[in-house]
Amino acid sequence: MTSPTPDTITVNGDRLWRSLMDLAEIGAYDDDRTGLRGVNRLALTDADAAGRRRVIGWMEEAGLTVRIDRMGNIYGRREGTDPTAAPVLTGSHIDSVATAGAFDGCLGVLGGIEVVRTLKERGISTRHPIEVGVFTEEEGVRFGTDMLGSAVAAGRLTLAYAHGLTDRDGLTLGGELVRTGFAGPARVRLDRPHAYVECHIEQGPVLAENDVPVGVVTGVQSISWQEITINGRAAHAGTTPTHLRADAALAAAQIVVHVRSMVDSGAYGDLRATVGHLTVHPDLTNIVPARAEMTVDLRNPDDAHMARAEQDLAAFLSDLESGRPGLTLTSRRMARTAHVPFDEEVQKVIAQAADDHGLSHMSLLSGAGHDAQEIAALCPTAMIFVRGEYDGISHNPREYSTPEACTYGVNVLATTLLRLAGQV
Ligand code: GLV
Ligand code: MN
Ligand code: MN
Repeated sequence: MTSPTPDTITVNGDRLWRSLMDLAEIGAYDDDRTGLRGVNRLALTDADAAGRRRVIGWMEEAGLTVRIDRMGNIYGRREGTDPTAAPVLTGSHIDSVATAGAFDGCLGVLGGIEVVRTLKERGISTRHPIEVGVFTEEEGVRFGTDMLGSAVAAGRLTLAYAHGLTDRDGLTLGGELVRTGFAGPARVRLDRPHAYVECHIEQGPVLAENDVPVGVVTGVQSISWQEITINGRAAHAGTTPTHLRADAALAAAQIVVHVRSMVDSGAYGDLRATVGHLTVHPDLTNIVPARAEMTVDLRNPDDAHMARAEQDLAAFLSDLESGRPGLTLTSRRMARTAHVPFDEEVQKVIAQAADDHGLSHMSLLSGAGHDAQEIAALCPTAMIFVRGEYDGISHNPREYSTPEACTYGVNVLATTLLRLAGQV
């Protein structure tokens, strides 16, 4: 898979940075907690649609032919010299969590466009076409399933499942695609690309701790999301004796503490567990909560440990229900992916590109989910990680990678794509 030419290509880091900062203005908000400007561009909101239109404009300026599929995934294509050759695909997502920074996903999309701009201005042709993809609802925070657009493109989830998902206001993804004008006509199932490479911020502290600018990503750990609904009984806070209560908030609190004790037990390997969403109803000071809704996000690099963690949590929920008369618990799976290892040959091309740019690198497993883990089902795939500041904080307005760090990552992306696509 390695190209015969050792050539490296460097992109215009200032232009890349300007695009990142421009895109961050779309959906920008003043974050009270940090005092910083954050980004709120939940999938298929008006802000996301505006971001998509900006990205399509940049794609067209770079000479890419744009198509939009029935999931709203956007692809910009630069033809190669061989009409029979499958495209080398790059990209990521521009939807964000509600409290985001400027880099998560955007670096991969704008980095891909910057690579194409560079190839265009240098008059470089490739044998394989190059495509830049922008995948819908990677974050999963609006419609509840992450990596959604890429999962449908790769055939793991169906279009009907995705279109039927609803947000907290009951709006369907299919309806929001139509409303925003991104229910495209193109077929959603991707033909097998030649390879897929995604550049992304690390979103963690490992590269900074090791003082290394570039990460070669070996794969993505397993992810399990579930929504738990607890139904109890509303009652007066002052008059209802404790033994007569069926308190949904108490059960929710026990679950929060239990998942942490599972992590601390060490019995599930390198398990991470998060309750990121928790609401109680009717949410009033002097009423015992009748209902609680919560999510549990589990991550594990090891599939067997993940399966056991899920089973043991299910057993805990069942015991909780049977031990408290008047309480019912239901659990709904939102998202579930296994550990996905990336292609070793593509990792080697990335490592070689970093070496040729004089950049030290290290291999690491991704803690976060990425579109690459879905596209990996179709073709040889790997990722490039870019170092973050402030312990790699992400999903937060403090998320930051320096202009130099971003340029390093996209230079490695450029050389990797050029070698995979075959310079002619
Ligand atoms: C994606 O951002 C994830 O939650 O890992
Ligand atoms: Mn991301
Ligand atoms: Mn994210």
